Amino acid sequence: MTNAPCVRNEYERTLKSHWDAKTSDDINLRLGAEDDLYHHHYAIGDFDRGVLDAPRQRREELILRELHRMENDQVDLVIRALGELPRGARVLDAGSGRGGTAFMIAQRLSTQVVGINFCEHHIAFAEQIARRRGWDDRVRFRYGNMVRTGFPDASFDAVVSNETTMYAGADELLREFARLLRPGGRYVMATWCRNDTVDPRSAASRHIDQHYVCQMHRRSTYFRALSDNGLAPVHVERYTGKAMPYWELRSHSQLRTGVEEAFLDGYRNETLNYLVVAAERAAADGSDTDAGARRPFRVEEQRTW
Ligand SMILES: C[S@@+](CC[C@H](N)C(=O)[O-])C[C@H]1O[C@@H](n2cnc3c(N)ncnc32)[C@H](O)[C@@H]1O
Repeated sequence: MTNAPCVRNEYERTLKSHWDAKTSDDINLRLGAEDDLYHHHYAIGDFDRGVLDAPRQRREELILRELHRMENDQVDLVIRALGELPRGARVLDAGSGRGGTAFMIAQRLSTQVVGINFCEHHIAFAEQIARRRGWDDRVRFRYGNMVRTGFPDASFDAVVSNETTMYAGADELLREFARLLRPGGRYVMATWCRNDTVDPRSAASRHIDQHYVCQMHRRSTYFRALSDNGLAPVHVERYTGKAMPYWELRSHSQLRTGVEEAFLDGYRNETLNYLVVAAERAAADGSDTDAGARRPFRVEEQRTW
């Protein structure tokens, strides 16, 4: 791992300082302690309502377990969207955090995974887990900027970004991902975004941007950037109501940070969406790829319930 500076501008410097400072980040360290899977993303789907009625001395522990189960389940959505990958395929995890997504992909799909991250202590943490598991030949972590990775063209079969695209310009980031994918390779993105058909810049979205030092994109921005960079959507799922229970449960936990209400408001008034998108890189001659032809375009819409 080289510590050469990889931030390119004032925003990236501020963002990197934000992550660099989170060395004893309570929520994520406590949630992952049991199965060694550490996540920095949220979740989709309901929780076991029974945990809220648990006796006071057990309630917090049960809430934490349930939050962690839900975060693991969120990675299943990403894995499902990756579809079939050949054994040993190379997957890039862009903005790999403490490695939870990378380890789950490597385990479930028997792939190699490279995580790229500009937060050194995240990389050191994830590398330690890889060594502990004896997986350091299969799951590696690299210090670098996901917008300008330095990896060769077409060097990955798949790229995933699990709640990281709000930390970079959508167009330059997807251009880099398209460059890294082999023709027919698959990109999977899980992200929260502004639902600009309702409000391009709601109060909830502004609050979240400030809290997480991010620049949440509009939903339409993503689809334009995908299209402009030769990434054809083959699977789109939009969640609104299903993104809420995680925040509801977190608001009952002692680990709440104050951002819970903004997410709940945004999903409730539908100014925010949660998307899982799979897209395939067009072949060099622009023709449809075999993989693309096998998997028809599908839109699954989950409305608020
Ligand atoms: C919200 S966390 C998500 C982590 C991980 N994907 C997960 O699901 O647990 C964002 C991560 O992206 C990294 N990151 C943000 N911008 C980046 C950039 N331009 N290049 C590399 N890493 C970046 C941060 O250091 C952090 O580890």
